[in-house]
Amino acid sequence: MKLDHYWMPFTDNRRFKGRPRLVASAKGMYYTTVEGKQVLDGLATLWCVNAGHGHPRIVEAIRRQAGELDFGSSFGLGHPLPFVLAERIAALAPRGMEHVFFTNSGSEAIDTAMKIAVAYHRLRGEGTRTRFIGRERSYHGVNIGGTSLGGVAANRKAYSGILMPGIDHLRHTHDAKRRFVRGCAETGAELADELEERLIPLHDASNIAAVVVDPVAASGGVLVPPKGYLARLREICSRHGILLVFDEVITGWGRLGAPFAAQHFGVEPDLITFAKGITSGAVPLGGVIVRKAIYETFMHAQGAGMEFFHGYTYSGHPLACAAGLAALEAYAEEKLFDIPLAGRFEDGVHALKGLPHVVDCRNLGFIGAVELEPRPGAPGARAYETFEKCWERGVFVRPMGDALAFCPPLIAESKHLEQMFGTVAEVLKTLS
Ligand SMILES: Cc1ncc(COP(=O)(O)O)c(C=O)c1O
Repeated sequence: MKLDHYWMPFTDNRRFKGRPRLVASAKGMYYTTVEGKQVLDGLATLWCVNAGHGHPRIVEAIRRQAGELDFGSSFGLGHPLPFVLAERIAALAPRGMEHVFFTNSGSEAIDTAMKIAVAYHRLRGEGTRTRFIGRERSYHGVNIGGTSLGGVAANRKAYSGILMPGIDHLRHTHDAKRRFVRGCAETGAELADELEERLIPLHDASNIAAVVVDPVAASGGVLVPPKGYLARLREICSRHGILLVFDEVITGWGRLGAPFAAQHFGVEPDLITFAKGITSGAVPLGGVIVRKAIYETFMHAQGAGMEFFHGYTYSGHPLACAAGLAALEAYAEEKLFDIPLAGRFEDGVHALKGLPHVVDCRNLGFIGAVELEPRPGAPGARAYETFEKCWERGVFVRPMGDALAFCPPLIAESKHLEQMFGTVAEVLKTLS
């Protein structure tokens, strides 16, 4: 097999192809590599596989569905599955969030949410509300909308000239002086005030459609919001008629011990974007959960005809919906959103404190990171080397700049957490 023809996404292709890491199969918590080695999946692959790999219920649902209806469109011709799945999702969503628009990915969910927000304001006669506020170090996928809203500099810099106009950013919530905090920091809620003190006066609320934040900025380095921060954003948005969008592509589907971060934090957004864990990663599926009043504004709009000129060929794809329904059943049956080992996970992350190069540990629910001191002149190199060495020792954790992220499937047992943190600790002791 030649490795040359496949241009791998978000990968150092030259480095990878010189030293490939290829998996052949996966079951439960483990991959099997093409060489036959077992590797523990410490990142639910890409923050997705919440029910563990090859879950029999999900596998069987996909198999069955492929034989029954391989593809059915949702453009003016429906099939039952997306209706059933939307109803199940609405039942898990925060109060009053009753409608679901399906996409194929998180990036598409974000662009869809942006269009819903702008079209909603226009229908209400507030068509000047077209601006968006994102946040530094947030990640919202790779489409132009999400890249523009996002605040990870490396993802933006090559495209600076084609990013969307009309987008401003809040400061990120990470305070480098506040290290080794378990869960949410006690102080820092006032960071949200920047919205009302700087950005709203600058742009005027009448021009702002929505504020979009990932409740825990995962890809940006696992940055956990301070206590009260999200609630304060909510209050400010409500005061100024601005929609609040939670990008729950990672925090949704049990990652924080509740269906959504919105419920974990007790903060009700207007729109929630989701993807990844909805099918436990088995088939691509994303979407936007919409507050009832917003949906009804579209449905009560004057004039007959299509209410929202938007959709993807594969919105509500039967295989994806079948996988989604099966994943939700697995989550409920196995009570996976309870994450009883969250305390052990937190202890495991923070046990890395004091090891060589460790400058911070962060966690919430079943997501965490250890941050390493960068090598002079080589940012990210130490974390990358840790990742490679952990892989060699049979554990997959993901480097993100100078941090290493942990996000195991929700089925992880104590022995898996011990293997993951134990291997990382061993490797850290070997690094220069
Ligand atoms: C918070 C968040 N939003 C959006 C996305 C983009 O999702 P996708 O890669 O499915 O387009 C991601 C992906 O990691 C994400 O973490």
